[in-house]
This record gives sequence, C-alpha cells and structure tokens, in this order.
Amino acid sequence: MEPKRAQWGSKIGFILAAAGSAVGLGNIWKFPGKAYEGGGGAYILIYLAIVLLIGIPVMLSELTIGRGAQANAIDSYGKLGHPGYKWVGWFGVIVAFIITSYYCHVGGWVLRYVASYATEPTKVYADPLGYFYALLGYNAVTGETWFPLTAVIFAGIFMGITCFIIVKGVESGIERFNKIGMPALFVILIILLIRALTMPGAGEGLQYMLIPDWSKVTFSTVLSALGQAFFSLSVAGNGTVIYGSYFSDDESIPSAARNVALFDTLAALLAALVIIPAMAAGGADLSDGGPGLMFIFLVNVFNGMPGGRVIGLVFFLCVLFAGLTSLVNLYEVSVEALQDKLHLKRVAAVAVIAVIGTAVSLCIQAIVSDWMDVVSIYICPLGALLAGILFFWVAGKDFVLAAVNKGAGKPIGAWFYPLSKYVYCACALLALIAGALLGGIG
Ligand code: ALA
Repeated sequence: MEPKRAQWGSKIGFILAAAGSAVGLGNIWKFPGKAYEGGGGAYILIYLAIVLLIGIPVMLSELTIGRGAQANAIDSYGKLGHPGYKWVGWFGVIVAFIITSYYCHVGGWVLRYVASYATEPTKVYADPLGYFYALLGYNAVTGETWFPLTAVIFAGIFMGITCFIIVKGVESGIERFNKIGMPALFVILIILLIRALTMPGAGEGLQYMLIPDWSKVTFSTVLSALGQAFFSLSVAGNGTVIYGSYFSDDESIPSAARNVALFDTLAALLAALVIIPAMAAGGADLSDGGPGLMFIFLVNVFNGMPGGRVIGLVFFLCVLFAGLTSLVNLYEVSVEALQDKLHLKRVAAVAVIAVIGTAVSLCIQAIVSDWMDVVSIYICPLGALLAGILFFWVAGKDFVLAAVNKGAGKPIGAWFYPLSKYVYCACALLALIAGALLGGIG
C-alpha cells in the first residue's frame, strides 16, 4: 500500500506556506531595482496587469496539476494524459535545483549581514562597498579576486537551516515555520515602511514609485516584468505543483491562488516602497540598482539614520525569513521527488540533495549573477510555457475546468479558460523568444 501523502494542516497554513514560497529574494532584492529602472509607477502598473492576467492563471494551473496528481512533481505531469509527459516534470525539478544553487549564495550574503549587524555593524558602515565586495572575494581597487570562504560558509549555514526545516516534514516543519515567518515578514515590512516614509526627503522616492513615468517603458520593460512575475510567483519550477499536491480536494484552488498572488505582490510593493523612498531620503543615486541595491546603498541609508543599526538588523532578518521560506519550497521539490522515486526516507533524501546542492553551488559561486540571468531569461519562461501547453492545450477544457473548480464554493468564470489557453501561453512564448533575441529580459 502506498504511504498516505502529507497534507497541509489548515487552509491558512497552506496559504502562508505558498505565500512563503513566492515571497522571497525576488520580491525584496530584485523587484525594487527593476521597478525603479522600469519607470516606477509605470512598472508597477504593468506588473499588476501581468499578475492578474497571467500570474494567477499559471498559479491556478500548477496548483491544480499538483492537487489532481497527489504525487511528486515528475509524476504529476505524467498523470496529465500520457506518462511520456513526465519529462516536463523532470525539467521543473532541474529548474528548481538550478535556482537553489544561486539562491543559497544570496541567502548566505543576507545571513552574513544579519550576523554583521548583530555583532560588528561598524565594519559594515565604515565602507559598505568594500565590505560587500570583500564578502564576494573581490577588491575593487586592485581587481584582485580570491575564494570567498566566508560567503560560502554562510551559504552553507543558510542551506543547513533550510534542510533542518524540511526534515521536520510538511506540517510540523514547512507549515509551522511559515506560520511564524510570513506574518513576521509583513509586520517588519510595515514597520520599515512607516520609518522610510517619515524620513525627510523620502517623498521624492515615493512620488517616483506612485506616479508612472511612461518614458522609461520599453518592450524590454514589459518582458522584464513578465520574467520577474514568473520568478516571483514561484511558477515554472514545480514549487507550486508540489505545494498543490499537499492540498486537499475540498479546498478552493481559485481562492488560494488569488490570496497567494495578493500576498506576493503586496510584499514586492512594500519592499519597493521601503527601499526606493529610503534611498531617496539618503541621497543615493537611485539608478544604481543590481545586487548592490540592498547590500551597499541601503546600508548607506541605514548608516545615516537614527536607530539605523537596529533598523538594518530588522531589515536583513526580514529578508532572511523571505529567502528561507522560498528555499524550503525549492528544495522540497527535489527532496519529494527523491523520496518518491528512490523510496528514500525524508532525512536521507534531504541529505542527498544537500550534498549535491553544495557541490553545484560551489561550482557556480563565481558566476552567481550570470547564472541568475540565464534562469530568468530562458528557463522560467520555458517552464511556464511547457506547463501551460500541457495543462491548457493537451489536457483540455473539460478536464481543466473540472479540476480547477473542485472544492471551490464559487466556480471560476468562463473567461478563465480562453485567457489562460491563449494569453498566458502566448506571453510565455513571447518572453522566451524575445529573451533569446534581445539577449535578456532579466
Ligand atoms: N519566488 C521566490 C522569490 O521570489 C523564488 O524569491
């Protein structure tokens, strides 16, 4: 007899866990910089439209594929009409694994900053740029590089905490952690928002984020928002499929997808409304985005604030929570597949993934940024497209509507099917082609 599949303990537990998987470094680290580059309010409006028209349908489809199959991510696709479709599941598992390999590095940097703020903030403040580069193993003055041992150790600790949570299982580990982590994250973000918006000079940044500047919007901006939405909502890497597979038949998937997308978007907007006004208040050049946005420029901002040490510590703790809840989801994809496919115990599956994950992460530690671009330019849109084709084109309308509406008090409207079949799939295809032609949407 097959062992009984793990299930979420409560609806709120599921929503928070799925929101935890979605809200991550993508929201806090990447979104504010992209929103700034893409015309502030204009980028936000485009992003909101993408989440509504494309993000929610793709999330609905992945949750439904998982719940319908009640299996690991690989077999879930195999159950969509033909066992041969399992390769789409394999692709998603590999995508999740590729994301984890750089995610744990960025998570390690965040953990390093938490530790630094707690123990030696003056070192961070004295030279934020030098401190960040030293962590990466780079001397900007001499061009000298070295193996970033500290960063690698912190990435390992970040990975270790993640594995500990996963070993505890779905309800006692993942769900319980998210029930604390997610509300804590929102509380911290709201406190930071109040602080940021009451700083002298913050109004300029706030205005930029609220009043659309359409002159900065290009075709690439729209594609960038599309890639960001796929990454941020944790679709295209099977993370949502696997959490859907722990969902019971009497829960409403449309309502869950709406709530998760809402939390995810809210977190991204809050992060942007904290970071950009705070940087404006600190007199930073707002066009300096990229990895340094959070680790260098924001540190400069905290540096000049009364209570900046505490605010910085709280901020990096909040980013740490967000990163952990996402990495837990990404690792769960591979752990669950190993448990099911090789009949391994949970601890053994986590150990195997941790060892392989460490090896891959070490190999890519020098190219974290390029590696991330490849994922958002090619891999996420491809994963989203493959899932969309199988679900909406191959499985077909009757199957889709019955599966999506199972357990939903109020069935989803008739608009859903054509919107997903044509608009979502076309956008994923467009993102993929344009990404390849333009050399990047990241
Ligand atoms: N969705 C996760 C994030 O945005 C992976 O960081």
